[in-house]
Amino acid sequence: MADGQARPVIGIIGGSGVYGIEGLTDVEWRTIDSPFGAPSDQLMFASLNGQPLVFLPRHGRGHRISPSEVNYRANIDALKRAGVTEILSVSAVGSLKEELPPGTFVIVDQFIDRTFAREKSFYTSGCVAHVSMAHPVCSRLGDAAEAACQELGIPHKRGGTYLVMEGPQFSTKAESMLYRQWGCDVIGMTNMPEAKLAREAEMCYATVAMVTDFDCWHPDHDAVTVDAVIRVLLDNADKARSVVKTVVPKLADREGPCGCGCHTALEHALITSKDA
Ligand code: ADE
Repeated sequence: MADGQARPVIGIIGGSGVYGIEGLTDVEWRTIDSPFGAPSDQLMFASLNGQPLVFLPRHGRGHRISPSEVNYRANIDALKRAGVTEILSVSAVGSLKEELPPGTFVIVDQFIDRTFAREKSFYTSGCVAHVSMAHPVCSRLGDAAEAACQELGIPHKRGGTYLVMEGPQFSTKAESMLYRQWGCDVIGMTNMPEAKLAREAEMCYATVAMVTDFDCWHPDHDAVTVDAVIRVLLDNADKARSVVKTVVPKLADREGPCGCGCHTALEHALITSKDA
């Protein structure tokens, strides 16, 4: 599909703090239509030192759309139509581990998808595909995110499991304890089905999960509140912008398809007969 593809186009899905990066030029918000409905917002097209970038505020500007109501299919489809080849998701999460305090960035490499009220596939009406999700993130994107955190001195962990819950309510203590027993590192509400759909769309995907709180399992911390999340989120936003700014040039020089195979995910996934 992407053989001979020229330079990568980086797509960033994140919160409103993330796209106000200094040094962006040619900034233009454009409406992209999708047959899957309306994306969360217009897409912001821009350039960073000559490298094209596209931002999508996951919850819309002003944070209007709840995690269950985000049209993930339209978002990924719109990014694909915008020419995006790799998606870096920048997301707030709660920590399920003592050693991952608020302010830590986790470059996750696995997900457990506990969501149940979302459209999760592009392949629904008359065409069936089963893409592999064994390795749900692109290690090349993860390498770039890790190198950026190292350069910037941001406390980070490479690798970790992100439990994706439906929300919008936070977890009960019993749920939080259960996810800890499962060995999960962080918990959030948005990265599934995003990662699955990116794979179906043959786009690289990786997540920088920014820890804002200890969820509700921690005996020394109050149960999570929106106030606490926002306070740390604002602190993290500066760091998130720096990560994006540092990651983008690292991804600029790829020629041809990604070595992880993200761009050929459908090659052995389609099961519907061509003659059907
Ligand atoms: N996003 C940020 N903190 C969270 C938490 N504790 N649970 C779910 N989503 C979150």
